[in-house]
Amino acid sequence: MTSLAHLHTFGLNATAQSVTYLTSSQQAADWLRDTAHQRRYILGEGSNTIFVENFEGHVAVNQLKGIQVEEFDDHFIVNVAAGENWHNFVDYCLRQEIFGLENLALIPGTVGAAPIQNIGAYGREVEYFIQQVNGLRTDSGEPFSVSHKDCKFGYRDSIFKHELKDKVLITDVTFFFSKRWLPCTHYAGLDDLVSPTPRDIFDQVIAIRRSKLPDPTVMGNAGSFFKNPKVSQTCFKQLNKRYPQVPHYPQPDGSVKLAAAWLIDQCKFKGVRKGGVICHKRQPLVLANAGQGTGEDLMALAREILSSVKQQFDVELENEVRLIGATGGVSL
Ligand code: FAD
Ligand code: EPU
Repeated sequence: MTSLAHLHTFGLNATAQSVTYLTSSQQAADWLRDTAHQRRYILGEGSNTIFVENFEGHVAVNQLKGIQVEEFDDHFIVNVAAGENWHNFVDYCLRQEIFGLENLALIPGTVGAAPIQNIGAYGREVEYFIQQVNGLRTDSGEPFSVSHKDCKFGYRDSIFKHELKDKVLITDVTFFFSKRWLPCTHYAGLDDLVSPTPRDIFDQVIAIRRSKLPDPTVMGNAGSFFKNPKVSQTCFKQLNKRYPQVPHYPQPDGSVKLAAAWLIDQCKFKGVRKGGVICHKRQPLVLANAGQGTGEDLMALAREILSSVKQQFDVELENEVRLIGATGGVSL
């Protein structure tokens, strides 16, 4: 048995039957072959995965490295190995004067996991820059590529959470960056920047994130535990009658996105603790390991939040984080 505590940012004590560190595509292909027909899980930096029980299977940690830049007249094509750290890649691009990713600074995790939930923050989603996702099929070890269009990106969503869930090991991602850079500053906290440079946005995003979100190296957490729920117009109108102040964001598909943090805040969960797991005092969308937290503590607190929000607002929250139990994914 191998400990997983240091391999996921929530830091719960859990074990796996084995942990293998993948540093080459050949090693990745070998691991897929050696563990065929056995229970297994592919991990990046574990910042969107919580092992709530001992995992009765094999874990591979993606540590493939390498960045290749091709420059054209009006754009760059950048191919990045899946095990590169996301923030280091954002920083690298900025230093190479390849602009666009600055709104996504300081998001934990690997490049390979970024397309899976289409990471997003401060007005940008990574899909905006993704040209293609490449890897190996987990059943056959055969190479595959999925184009941007076929990734079916959405809010915290992609084909890798549906048709291709657990069916691929991503080895690298190809990005497209136009040389015609336009600042993206509509999100609250960036809208006061005047004629900002990419570096100004990068610095501001980092400052906001540091002020709002707990550092997982200080207090274990996995970022937003729940997604911001999308509701129908009808549901929103009913809610808005009862709560005129409800923060809401109309979506292009006609639905309305609500702020899960606000719903949880209204239910008075800020600072509420179950055993060693706490609903964060500054950002209630984040559940955190206040020390010696267990999977049971976490599941109990998350379920309590879920049912209070349902009872008070008739809105269903859905976990954003992937929860892994003894035999694989578990639901709340
Ligand atoms: P992991 O947790 O290791 O894996 C996530 C999922 O991807 C799992 O299902 C795993 O099986 C799969 N996976 C990982 N690598 C591969 C691969 N190579 N091939 C196939 N499958 C793979 N997210 C946002 O979108 N926006 C934010 O602003 C944000 N802020 C955060 C702040 C904090 C403090 C924390 C802790 C997390 C935050 N997150 C945010 C969530 C997290 O950073 C992202 O989801 C990130 O992409 C996860 O990367 P990872 O390598 O740690 O993924
Ligand atoms: N709010 C409250 N009380 C609070 C905090 C927030 O009512 O204590 C309300 C406010 O109305 C605020 C709104 O919630 O305007 C939104 O808060 P914030 O701007 O902090 O963003 P969020 O919706 O809570 C999302 C992402 C974050 C991302 C930020 C910035 C999701 C699930 N979360 O959080 O992503 O960094 O926006 O773009 O979409 C993550 O995925 O792990 C993550 C941290």
